[in-house]
Amino acid sequence: MRPFIVAGNWKMNKTLEEGLTLVREVLARFERTPPNTTVVFAVPCPLLQAISEVLRERQGFYLAAQNCHHEEQGAYTGEVSAAMLVSVGAQYVILGHSERRQYFRETHEQLARKVTVALRHNLTPIFCCGEPLAVRERNHHLPYVARQLRASLFHLSETDLRRVVIAYEPVWAIGTGKTASSAQAQEMHAAIRQLVAKRYSSETAQAIPILYGGSCNAQNASQLFQQPDVDGGLIGGASLRADEFSAIICAARST
Ligand code: 13P
Repeated sequence: MRPFIVAGNWKMNKTLEEGLTLVREVLARFERTPPNTTVVFAVPCPLLQAISEVLRERQGFYLAAQNCHHEEQGAYTGEVSAAMLVSVGAQYVILGHSERRQYFRETHEQLARKVTVALRHNLTPIFCCGEPLAVRERNHHLPYVARQLRASLFHLSETDLRRVVIAYEPVWAIGTGKTASSAQAQEMHAAIRQLVAKRYSSETAQAIPILYGGSCNAQNASQLFQQPDVDGGLIGGASLRADEFSAIICAARST
């Protein structure tokens, strides 16, 4: 059975005090996470260590960074390495978010290297893919996402690919209030699974968690989560409030 994953991507939001308050409020609502459900907080780098301490010994709750550099270390002012993230308690790292691709010009090749370096340090990559609106309108979304996966994930061995979480986030749905319909999400998730089956094996395709992201909230989460190939969500805006994020975590349980 694939794990169900609800991950909150805070992006560039929350000071240390605000972040600690949010995490404590979410934790206070759960004795433990719903069965087979993993909750991940993807927080800004300066908050990682303090939040890691709050999450310690809370089963089912994990910590993620939102990016890491593709080199091990060196003269890259302002950047953060995979080893540093591990040293402050991160277990996951988001890679290839569309905001990083768009605003920081991250390329397929760089992302392939980031995935490799993250796995080398035992960080679980949450690898983001997804098409912009113009591509969806031309009905090219399936080949577009296939290219993203081939270029940045399919260099991995089968064993390593099984350590990756994929997040499908259509760019037109991020922060816009326009969620993909359940049918649109299911179509893409099934297509991603098929690609993995073709390149690797159907066992690996069945094992790999695929999350949906893009204007997912407490109202629409359970419908999306009911789709057979949707294994959870990567939540932006709605992860910034404890009540809303907790309701999304509970939606995982009800599927
Ligand atoms: P929103 O949920 O705010 O649309 O953001 C989604 C996202 O980008 C998560 O990584």
